[in-house]
Amino acid sequence: MRDQFNLNNKVIVITGAAGLLGNEHCEAILTHNGVPVLLDINLNRLQKLKTRLDKKFSTNIQIYPLDITSETEVRRCSESIKKKFKTIDGLINNAANNPKVENPKENFSNELPNFSYKTWDKDIAVGLSGAFLCTKYFGNIISQNKKGGSIINISSDLGLIGPKQSLYSKKNFKPVSYSVVKSGIIGLTKYTATYWAEKNVRCNAICPGGIENKQPKSFLKRISREIPLARLAKKDEYHGAIVWILSDASSYLNGAVIPIDGGRTAW
Ligand SMILES: NC(=O)c1ccc[n+]([C@@H]2O[C@H](COP(=O)([O-])OP(=O)(O)OC[C@H]3O[C@@H](n4cnc5c(N)ncnc54)[C@H](O)[C@@H]3O)[C@@H](O)[C@H]2O)c1
Repeated sequence: MRDQFNLNNKVIVITGAAGLLGNEHCEAILTHNGVPVLLDINLNRLQKLKTRLDKKFSTNIQIYPLDITSETEVRRCSESIKKKFKTIDGLINNAANNPKVENPKENFSNELPNFSYKTWDKDIAVGLSGAFLCTKYFGNIISQNKKGGSIINISSDLGLIGPKQSLYSKKNFKPVSYSVVKSGIIGLTKYTATYWAEKNVRCNAICPGGIENKQPKSFLKRISREIPLARLAKKDEYHGAIVWILSDASSYLNGAVIPIDGGRTAW
């Protein structure tokens, strides 16, 4: 059974790898003998992450600076990775704009009547169109494997329920684009899960709840009342799901949408 969770040198492409959750996906994959390939628009943060992980895991991780909203860049990047690794076994569509509206020092002005079309377009471009482009190019490479592979789309508890705006700082609203991106990615998941099923490319979504990350205490207190487990997630609490869904241990899991949110969406 333990062997089924071994990623056995599977090559897994991660978008938004340099962010909070991206770091954790990389650690989870490395701990289970997989080969994470790190993509992010922020080269500086990618390099810092590479230095940290190379030291911790005695490895030589490959990083690719990439704007996933550019089709040309995504295509070229997929060709370079294919050339370097010969195969791609998995993809985590993780990158998305995720404004920290719980921070009272920020002022996002995301009220619906004033929400700018420009911000809407940018958010959709990263979180949805970027995931589509990565699915198109990396997914196509995965579909050419004899054994197929696994795609994980990172949705959110807010892909399943609307945001409770009173939880956030008075000045800030969770933007409408976040809900649309996170529920849209569930549609992309079901489409992909059925499209490449005969090639054994499985595609599933996880819907993580919020992660504790130095938010104001008042916010943590308010949000804990919304969650049966009465707390946000610790940043490493998604490792198990990531490894399970990428590994052969989940070989019959396809098209699933899995909330991992301390029970928030069960209430
Ligand atoms: N943090 C949470 O509490 C939480 C909860 C539920 C779901 N999520 C989801 O998890 C995912 C990661 O969230 P996070 O908190 O780690 O966010 P983050 O902001 O820390 O990381 C996002 C990363 O995406 C990168 N990125 C942005 N635009 C890009 C582009 N055009 N091309 C390539 N990379 C780009 C950023 O540089 C950043 O490193 C998101 O999809 C988010 O919606 C997060």
